[in-house]
Amino acid sequence: EKAGYDHFMLKEIHEQATSVHDTFAGKLSELDGSVNLEELNISDEEIRNIDRIEIIACGTSWNAGLLGKYFFENFAGIHTDVDIASEFRYGNPIMRKNVISIAITQSGETADTLAAVKSCKAYGCSSIAITNVVGSSITRVVDSVLYTRAGPEIGVAATKTFTAQLIVLYLLSIRFARARGTINTNEAKDLLIELKRIPGKIQKILNRKAEIRECAEIFAEERDYFFVGRNVNYPVALEGALKLKEISYIHAEGFAGGELKHGPLALLDEGTPVVAIATKGHVYDKILSNIKEVKAREARVIAVAEKGDTEIEKYVDHVLRIPPTHEMLAPILSSVVLQLLAYYTALARDCSIDKPKNLAKSVTVE
Ligand code: F6R
Repeated sequence: EKAGYDHFMLKEIHEQATSVHDTFAGKLSELDGSVNLEELNISDEEIRNIDRIEIIACGTSWNAGLLGKYFFENFAGIHTDVDIASEFRYGNPIMRKNVISIAITQSGETADTLAAVKSCKAYGCSSIAITNVVGSSITRVVDSVLYTRAGPEIGVAATKTFTAQLIVLYLLSIRFARARGTINTNEAKDLLIELKRIPGKIQKILNRKAEIRECAEIFAEERDYFFVGRNVNYPVALEGALKLKEISYIHAEGFAGGELKHGPLALLDEGTPVVAIATKGHVYDKILSNIKEVKAREARVIAVAEKGDTEIEKYVDHVLRIPPTHEMLAPILSSVVLQLLAYYTALARDCSIDKPKNLAKSVTVE
């Protein structure tokens, strides 16, 4: 059942080349730049009338939602808010008819997410769920269900369901963008061609996991870890920190690079390794400045950077490589690296990887 792997988590990390592919297979045509989501019960007219997207989720699914915001705002030009379900349901959200809610929940059973989505319906908003489990509770309360095709996930730490959620959000944002005319055929084609290359690039990372293991072992006994990123790499930092803390029990926090000097720098010294997600993009120089900032406090830096980026080596202690890709897709590849980093750290610390203490796979109570 673990197919030769020591843990379900490692098996599920390895399944991502396939699960990512299965999630987009049959849904796109790179010939005309179209995305076909049959399960979506919204007309083009309704898509054009969307005023705002309200994403609701918990934990890792919330981190996926934060990335969704970049996709929807960049590609489709739709203002997007991302709320934690347990906050949303007890808040006083301003919801109107042309707001569309998107619930992201791997299990489809998270109590807070279900309750939050039900409250959106009461406002008359159209609702979409992104889930991995066919027939789960969430599927019975929304107007449209978009499935991730990741297959069953046994490890408590979400891995392949997270990357599959990113694929669905990416496809949905391109679908919206096409209906609204915010990207043209050629731009859509390029985005879809690049998407199709992702499974092969994930496989390349998996083939080089020994390097990630080596790096994890160097820092496995540390007490605190920082993860920093900017723009699309900010949610990646949050997710990297969440994975590390939940399975290795190392205190880890994710920050937006620009926030470091507003407080977190006070905690930094040579005993706090900093993972900087430094893939190429319009904020690359900005993350380099952050790296210099933390190096000045003696912190050791592990960068996640693209193959071929030789500049980064001048500033950091370790580099974990991903194959180059579109700026918006790099988070998928960087996340696979950080999943492996968390896994090998927990392994070195002899932790109960598939069933971390105090955590459950599906949180059906609030
Ligand atoms: C972290 C993790 C949790 C879940 C969260 C939401 O690895 O698995 O943070 O992401 O409990 O679960 P779902 O997606 O089932 O609503």
